[in-house]
Amino acid sequence: MNRVLSCIQPTGAVHLGNYLGALRHWTSGQHECDGFYGIVDLHALTVTDRPGVVGQSTLELAAVLFAIGLDPQVSTVFVQSHVPEHSQLSWIMECTVSFGELSRMTQFKDKSAKRETEFIAAGLFTYPALMAADILLYDAHDVPVGDDQRQHIEITRDIAMRFNSRYGDTFVVPRAVMPKTGARVMDLQDPTSKMSKSATTDTGLVYLLDDPAAILKKFKRAVTDSDSEVRFDREHKPGISNLLEIQAAATGRSPEDIASGYTQYGPLKSDTGEAVIELLRPIQARYTELMSDRAELSSLLRAGASKARGIASATLQRAHESIGLLPL
Ligand code: TRP
Repeated sequence: MNRVLSCIQPTGAVHLGNYLGALRHWTSGQHECDGFYGIVDLHALTVTDRPGVVGQSTLELAAVLFAIGLDPQVSTVFVQSHVPEHSQLSWIMECTVSFGELSRMTQFKDKSAKRETEFIAAGLFTYPALMAADILLYDAHDVPVGDDQRQHIEITRDIAMRFNSRYGDTFVVPRAVMPKTGARVMDLQDPTSKMSKSATTDTGLVYLLDDPAAILKKFKRAVTDSDSEVRFDREHKPGISNLLEIQAAATGRSPEDIASGYTQYGPLKSDTGEAVIELLRPIQARYTELMSDRAELSSLLRAGASKARGIASATLQRAHESIGLLPL
């Protein structure tokens, strides 16, 4: 079975856009691949420096991943810092990529420009080396990523090919694949922008763990369009179309079909809120259960780390041998 690696950073709470757009497909696709799902906490250190924050977010994100249905019997869910081979291979990757290549990464240029008055960690610059290690350790063939990460996959391929030509065939050269994208969920207050953690306010964001009253309130306040016709038309009616698409994703119907059942905005808003509440109810229940049983959660993560280490340590060993580092 194809080995697939997906990773997510534990920064900020998971929202409906993350879930319906991507995470839901981790779950629905897990039986068709040999899936490794990493919570990449070390990457989060590039932008977080307060003690305790990353660990808590990591725990919560792990609970969310199991709550949405990643099955520990089928998929390997692990935390990056539990698998020390990531950091170890990362150094080797840093020595296989050039300063010039890293300087051309648009994500580094954007992120460092935004942080002009803040501390810019060197890790923000060398980030692609750690990401290459994440991927190459697992001999992953396919890495489903969005457009913003494609350049990082390209550099990973370049690093893998350079390493293989310097030291002999060692790494699988991975390729970026289009993730199966689900719904394109837009900000409820700004339906022309994607629902995103980096929005300036979170009134247009629905979090996976929002309680039903908060969810309903956010939908009732959703920005709509100026006329009063309910029809699915992303270009001319972004607000209404977003509600239709969300309700469609939550119920498995088509947006057009849903549109035909409404003549007014009010009921569309509240029904969409209700549909999302129902969609999230079992996830929230499972989340609460998991968070109240830390021992179980830890044991799931320990099993994931041990499976991940089994593969990662063999790959690291292979890399050391290819280079010809002196064995102990
Ligand atoms: N850089 C990715 C992001 O910001 C997260 C990531 C880290 C990742 N390592 C990865 C994604 C390996 C895919 C494979 O979204």
